[in-house]
Amino acid sequence: MNNSPQLSATFADRHIGPRPDEIARMVDLLGYADVDALVDAAVPASIRSAEPLRLPEPASEVDALTELRQLAARNNVATSMIGQGYYGTFTPSVIVRRLVENPAWYTAYTPYQPEISQGRLEALLNFQTVVSDLTGLPTANASLLDEGTAAAEAMTLAHRSNKKSKSDRFLVDADCFAQTIAVVRTRAEALGIEVVVADTTDGLPAGDFFGFLVQYPGSNGAVRDLNPLIEAAHEGGALVAVASDLLALTLLEAPGEAGADIVIGSSQRFGVPLFYGGPHAGFMSVRSGLERSLPGRLVGVSIDADGAPAYRLALQTREQHIRREKATSNICTAQVLLAVVASMYAVYHGPEGLRAIAERVHSYAGKLAASLRAGGVEVVHGDFFDTVLARVPGSAADVVDAARQNGIWLRLVDADHVGISCDEKTDVATLTRVCQSFGVQYDDTLGAAAITVPRTSEYLTHPVFNTHRSETSMLRYLRKLSDMDYALDRGMIPLGSCTMKLNATTEMEPVTWPEFADLHPFAPVEDAAGYVKLIGQLERWLAEVTGYAKVSIQPNAGSQGELAGLLAIRGYHHGRDDLERNVCLIPASAHGTNAASAVMAGMKVVVVKGNDDGTIDLDDLRAKAAEHAAQLAAIMITYPSTHGVYEESVREVCKIVHDHGGQVYVDGANLNALLGLAQPGEFGGDVSHLNLHKTFCIPHGGGGPGVGPVAVAAHLAPYLPNHPLLDQAGPESGVGPISAAPFGSAGVLAISWAYIRMMGAEGLTAATKAAVLTANYVAKRLEGAFPVLYTGENGLVAHECILDLRPMTKETGITVDDVAKRLIDYGFHAPTMSFPVAGTLMVEPTESEDLGELDRFCDAMIAIRHEIDRVAAGEWPATDNPLVNAPHTAESVINDKWDHSYTREEAAFPRSVDRSSKYWPPVRRIDGAHGDRNLICSCPAPEAFQ
Ligand SMILES: Cc1ncc(COP(=O)(O)O)c(C=O)c1O
Repeated sequence: MNNSPQLSATFADRHIGPRPDEIARMVDLLGYADVDALVDAAVPASIRSAEPLRLPEPASEVDALTELRQLAARNNVATSMIGQGYYGTFTPSVIVRRLVENPAWYTAYTPYQPEISQGRLEALLNFQTVVSDLTGLPTANASLLDEGTAAAEAMTLAHRSNKKSKSDRFLVDADCFAQTIAVVRTRAEALGIEVVVADTTDGLPAGDFFGFLVQYPGSNGAVRDLNPLIEAAHEGGALVAVASDLLALTLLEAPGEAGADIVIGSSQRFGVPLFYGGPHAGFMSVRSGLERSLPGRLVGVSIDADGAPAYRLALQTREQHIRREKATSNICTAQVLLAVVASMYAVYHGPEGLRAIAERVHSYAGKLAASLRAGGVEVVHGDFFDTVLARVPGSAADVVDAARQNGIWLRLVDADHVGISCDEKTDVATLTRVCQSFGVQYDDTLGAAAITVPRTSEYLTHPVFNTHRSETSMLRYLRKLSDMDYALDRGMIPLGSCTMKLNATTEMEPVTWPEFADLHPFAPVEDAAGYVKLIGQLERWLAEVTGYAKVSIQPNAGSQGELAGLLAIRGYHHGRDDLERNVCLIPASAHGTNAASAVMAGMKVVVVKGNDDGTIDLDDLRAKAAEHAAQLAAIMITYPSTHGVYEESVREVCKIVHDHGGQVYVDGANLNALLGLAQPGEFGGDVSHLNLHKTFCIPHGGGGPGVGPVAVAAHLAPYLPNHPLLDQAGPESGVGPISAAPFGSAGVLAISWAYIRMMGAEGLTAATKAAVLTANYVAKRLEGAFPVLYTGENGLVAHECILDLRPMTKETGITVDDVAKRLIDYGFHAPTMSFPVAGTLMVEPTESEDLGELDRFCDAMIAIRHEIDRVAAGEWPATDNPLVNAPHTAESVINDKWDHSYTREEAAFPRSVDRSSKYWPPVRRIDGAHGDRNLICSCPAPEAFQ
């Protein structure tokens, strides 16, 4: 539905928060004549672009939607029975409206501030419980990026955890999905792991392997008894990872019960549309003993200051932002929104509902197999769940063609075989058409196939999966959880390095259109003409704004873009027989993913020092570049730096590295400070990744989805990612796939397309200027309360500023944590804490916040500073004041007992808090360490909350 009239203002006017008079006031406070004068003073002339961006004239919101409708119409959606990890599923309407299309869910940030994230943490704990129950292993994480990368993570987990094996060989059963094998190979190559693909039907090949991956059910449909296979692999000293399917596991023996060490897969078919390949939540569960090596985020149960149960992210010290090059994985942004959808699908259907869906799918597959056999078509496997492999010597292509004419996509396995996967959407009419394509009759009266090793154990017995059966109940559960959380629809989320800006409704609209949502990633490419055009345009526009020659949108997050970019650099050096180049220079202040990605790309990290003013120490860089000249592969820098300043010396940095034979990787996470003003490809970068979920408006989803396109100069273009199942996805000479789907998270690309299309060159540039203005305004207003740690030219910052709390902490004992939690009482999400400098807060207001909201934030920070002064003056004891006790729940302030040194009023309604819209956190400060010591990562019994 779209009957809104042509809107009066341009989209850029709506996207950019401050009104012209507000801009004038802000510029005035900063002492500049206008915003251009401020930007000229902040951004070094040496990096400024000479020409404006060459982008189409901006479209209005209505016109952009019309163009998107035209693109959508070019996609020819058929019924998909291709399978291979992507299946038809019905997203319950209540989940579409109340979750997928609800900004309270999709505009939330990663739950690093758990007190304001209890709703989505509960939803993620439900997800972990679903995965853990169905796979039969005790600990599951809160999502990975897709099934292919989950398999690659399983390989590296097995490699580092298998202390008994000295082998560097990883065995992969040949009946794994082709894209999974290819992603595993891409990752293995850089790490020196040898991947051996073998048919293990008649036993495992000879030799030592540290790990073994098998698909269950197999890519061609066969369901094998895992028990003897796993036993044999264990006997040979390998750890076993099983790639599996959550729906199948409602009927089949759980891999964990058969002895698997790791289970991975995709939760897509639990209510998440095909989306032409993504975003979908990958998952991983592990047996006891491996939980501390699990990659990705893990939600656990802990307690708050009152001893009440509370959720938070567990074991965070495993993650790249702490362990950097020693991290177990580089994954940062994951697929939270999609994991939440999958969890809610399980909550709504419950164990009986899921089982009923699985039985129907299995029964249809059985009837299809019987009908084919009755018509004289050979069916290869007797044991299957949803996928039937038909043998039609020499005529497989004809059958697939006939089905396509009939509106159905089947899988062309080879010249003699066709694969047909049934799913939740399969019905008699569809199977009748499938059978017609084989020239046989569908007979619905034929019996279903049996399952040889059925599941006997219970699953999803927790009350949450057995309560919300009516739509009313589900509606209220979703509302209850989102009400516990703070998202952008409540107020500003000033997280430095994260660019929590407006995710406009017009940008979001196309995501759920069936022409974009219901396309299988391996559908004939001619049926995806709309997507191909949209992706081509988006890649060209991204190349234009960054100044690079070519872009691949395949990586599913910034971390994956980093890995793709570093693999491109590696491919380039190897292509020139420069095989020794494996040193990656990384400034001390870099984001943790940089170091972790470098290690995953087979590189050795060498840290470059920073100066006291936050800039790169050029002398140290020269020395390190000279010392490692023969091995120098790359430097990874962030621009503007993670210190929030435009470094004048960036061209010099690039030159030093180039002069020593290295390549320059510019982390593009901070592109919101550059668009329209400067291009990394122009000022010295050879490659960058971008975070479309920052600068280009894909919402953060509570921790994903993301898209991390990799952009490269012409000499690196031959080494971009490609895909074994689609030539158009990348160059033949490419490094292999970095994601399971040819175009990664294609389903959310229309968001960024719409943003660029509606902003145009002028709008994007205006947004950048506004982002620089708001950051400098906040820095200026707060300078008396909290000093800004680093500034660039003329004492100005870029699009974010670091507030230094360390002197205050030294004086008063009040920590950065106390301030962050106290901001919750004032109705705010805290800025980024202790990154890149411990004891600081990094504020990034973005261009979308208007002056009213910026002032509300600054007023809150200044009021907090006054509270700290009262602690310093001894007016409030250091151990009992509103800061150390923050945040305050409603329950804590209405409690009959109140023996604090400050009033209830001061606790809950400090100055400037609007009483009518007060945000109440559901829990008090959470004790993270308690949860790590007593690890609980699935739904606790309801009694725990009494
Ligand atoms: C500077 C920087 N680089 C890289 C990343 C990694 O991006 P992603 O979380 O999408 O993997 C981030 C994300 O927070 C970042 O801030």
